[in-house]
Parts: sequence; structure tokens; C-alpha cells
Amino acid sequence: MIEIKVCMGSACFLKGNQANLEYIRKYIEENNLAAEVKIIGGLCENKCEQGPRIVVNGKEYIQVTDEQIKQILKKQK
Ligand code: FES
Repeated sequence: MIEIKVCMGSACFLKGNQANLEYIRKYIEENNLAAEVKIIGGLCENKCEQGPRIVVNGKEYIQVTDEQIKQILKKQK
């Protein structure tokens, strides 16, 4: 089980987390990972210049791309 916190602050959201969130949701659906992955929305933590940011099980990833997300989610299968 992993928990992915996606920063939903406006900077991260516009810098890519809107698309990243969609990507994560789609990946979970296509790979039947709903029981394995929990998505939560995070608030801005004033690290906007490093955005888009996500935190996976407490580990922070900055300037996240969908390719990185794919690698993270792949490990769940
Ligand atoms: S919007 Fe994500 S850290 Fe500020």
C-alpha cells in the first residue's frame, strides 16, 4: 500500500500536478491498483519553485514528471 500526496496548491497544480493527478488516477484504474494506492491532496508547503511536488510514503519528489510517476507506480505491481 502506498500513499501519494499530490500538492494541490495553485503553483504545483498549474505546473503539472493537475495532469499528474489525472495520470495517477488513470494508471490506478487501468492496472487495478485501487486497493494498493491511496491518493490524497496536499496543501501548499511553500516549496512552489520546486513544483510540481508529490510525496510518496513520506518521500518527497520534486519537479515530477509522468515518467517518474510511472516508475513509482510500477513498483506496486
Ligand atoms: S503549490 Fe505546491 S508547494 Fe506551493
